[in-house]
Amino acid sequence: MLGRSGFSRPGGFRPENLGQNTMAMIGNVCFSVFVIGVLVFTIMAATYEPEDPLFHPSTKITTFLTSKSNATFKSDNSVVRTGEDFMAANESVFGAIINMTDVDNSVSGETGEVVEATQCDGNSGPIDCRDPEVFHLMMRATIEKFKDIHFYRFGKPVAGSNDSSCDMAWRFRPKDGKAAAFYKDYRRFVIERSENCTLSVVSIGEYHTGMNARKRKKNQKGGLEKTSLNTDQVNALPVVGEMVNDSLPVVESESSFSRGKYLVYMGGGDRCKSMNHYLWSFLCALGEAQYLNRTLVMDLSICLSSIYTSSKQDEEGKDFRFYFDFEHLKEAASVLDKDQFWEDWSKWQQKDGMNLHLVEDFRVTPMKLMDVKDALIMRKFGSVEPDNYWYRVCEGETESIVQRPWHLIWKSRRLMDIMSAIASRLNWDYDSVHVVRGEKARNKELWPNLDAHTSPDALLSTLRDKIDEGRNLYIATNEPDTSFFDPLKDKYTTHFLDEYKDLWDVTSEWYSETTKLNNGVPVEFDGYMRVSIDTEVFLRGKKQLETFNDLTSDCKDGINTCNVAEN
Ligand SMILES: *[C@@H]1O[C@H](CO)[C@@H](O)[C@H](O)[C@H]1NC(C)=O
Ligand SMILES: *[C@@H]1O[C@H](CO)[C@@H](O)[C@H](O)[C@H]1NC(C)=O
Ligand SMILES: *[C@@H]1O[C@H](CO)[C@@H](O)[C@H](O)[C@H]1NC(C)=O
Ligand SMILES: *[C@@H]1O[C@H](CO)[C@@H](O)[C@H](O)[C@H]1NC(C)=O
Ligand SMILES: *[C@@H]1O[C@H](CO)[C@@H](O)[C@H](O)[C@H]1NC(C)=O
Ligand SMILES: *[C@@H]1O[C@H](CO)[C@@H](O)[C@H](O)[C@H]1NC(C)=O
Ligand SMILES: *[C@@H]1O[C@H](CO)[C@@H](O)[C@H](O)[C@H]1NC(C)=O
Repeated sequence: MLGRSGFSRPGGFRPENLGQNTMAMIGNVCFSVFVIGVLVFTIMAATYEPEDPLFHPSTKITTFLTSKSNATFKSDNSVVRTGEDFMAANESVFGAIINMTDVDNSVSGETGEVVEATQCDGNSGPIDCRDPEVFHLMMRATIEKFKDIHFYRFGKPVAGSNDSSCDMAWRFRPKDGKAAAFYKDYRRFVIERSENCTLSVVSIGEYHTGMNARKRKKNQKGGLEKTSLNTDQVNALPVVGEMVNDSLPVVESESSFSRGKYLVYMGGGDRCKSMNHYLWSFLCALGEAQYLNRTLVMDLSICLSSIYTSSKQDEEGKDFRFYFDFEHLKEAASVLDKDQFWEDWSKWQQKDGMNLHLVEDFRVTPMKLMDVKDALIMRKFGSVEPDNYWYRVCEGETESIVQRPWHLIWKSRRLMDIMSAIASRLNWDYDSVHVVRGEKARNKELWPNLDAHTSPDALLSTLRDKIDEGRNLYIATNEPDTSFFDPLKDKYTTHFLDEYKDLWDVTSEWYSETTKLNNGVPVEFDGYMRVSIDTEVFLRGKKQLETFNDLTSDCKDGINTCNVAEN
């Protein structure tokens, strides 16, 4: 139920697990479109069209990515789109929504006896959280309180922190949710019993306060769910708010290691480039590994480009798992961390007669490597850009044969959980506006009107017809000084990312988890994380206004680039 227990999680590294099953499984789920070979572009820049995820025709993408212009990957506020953004899920995948009628029906049969059997002792004694009447009461209170979300499952309540509190978990999606994902919440309820024994809910805690209900007990029965979904289908969707286990895959034995076939990419000019560039290259390597039925030996340590760092310097030593969902990747594909790989390789390579096949020219296509029998194929990249970019392997003739497996890359669920916490604090009922300023507002040559069109006065007049007075308004922006937007406070309740600092400060779960991941060294909440969360919160607003198109007629990439940029 709330766990992913139905899924056969790989117990360790298995070379024969080449992700084929999972891929087939994902393919079967009713995702009507899943465009592969599509890519990378900036969400913030493009107008968001939920029904029709913007897919750049691949020719255009190719031109975009192979363009010799050095500016190609330099877009500042860009967030990469990942696999889950391309899943256009059919509503039926999520199963039936639980409403008040279902709650009443579910409990009416059971409560009868319980009520009769229970003696009313007045105001004494602890609340029995397992009492169906309490469960019923809690579900009713929850459905009444959260008008803007759909419930798919309620877990059975468990005791909270004291005699008068109970914790309960549920799986939900925002009512207008476009993203193919489930969310999990668990909260603490304070319950009171009056003189005449009537129970009532006094209060419901904040997002994720019901820690005791967080982890679902194995084989737990008695929750409420209308349709039992195909677990494979549900497991093919991200569940934001669920515990993350992204520990590194472990090689089980010498024999499983020596039976394996591996692919590794070494060197190259991709390091410290933008996240777009990183993924475009990484997915080329992963695509080749899948094509060759080999395990990809990957470097989880990545270099964060200076465009995202507060030091304005490139920063080494960032972990893949800070940004992407490694748990999903390791379950759906065959990957191995390079440190473990090289350790085992040096131990067993000679003894087990494992050979290395070196490829130093990116023009050697994956198709030519199909018949290589050696245990390890190593591609080495030189020092001259742009011929030393990994993605060059996937160009030309290869492009139509090796496809980038976008579905394997999802955003970090730890980051998505911060987004979910913010949206939950706003009760999933807010409008959003994206305001690009910064460098672009200063550059009057390329963006002549941007500064004026994003001034508070202009914003107020543009928003007047579009967003009702008094609404919660989330402003996603690169303007560091948020007091700039103060004039909007007369009409709207404005919110900015920094208002939610507690979600990543030293007391937060994100902080403790990433610190643990980083061998005890605290992780900076960097510019890429900021902009990803800002974007995701923006995308969940009920009404969304973009800078380009909605606020200004200037073009996203500067003067006269509109027709290029807009589709
Ligand atoms: C995470 O999963 C691995 C297997 O993939 C397992 O060995 C490990 O115990 C799990 N860790 C936690 C904290 O559940
Ligand atoms: C890109 O940068 C390289 C080196 O920094 C330079 O040699 C090249 O001329 C630049 N290309 C363009 C189109 O600006
Ligand atoms: C969703 O799936 C159901 C059953 O699988 C099908 O009948 C329906 O036409 C699908 N809807 C869309 C919009 O694809
Ligand atoms: C709950 O959903 C059922 C159909 O699934 C519908 O008949 C019923 O009227 C709904 N009840 C409420 C209170 O919305
Ligand atoms: C029980 O815990 C809840 C939530 O933590 C708190 O609000 C309440 O005051 C506590 N009640 C007692 C009797 O301590
Ligand atoms: C019990 O008391 C509460 C208030 O204390 C009241 O709202 C409720 O109607 C009473 N119920 C019955 C059955 O008397
Ligand atoms: C990889 O495996 C699939 C199915 O197991 C097979 O059809 C394909 O030919 C294999 N590819 C290579 C390069 O061995």
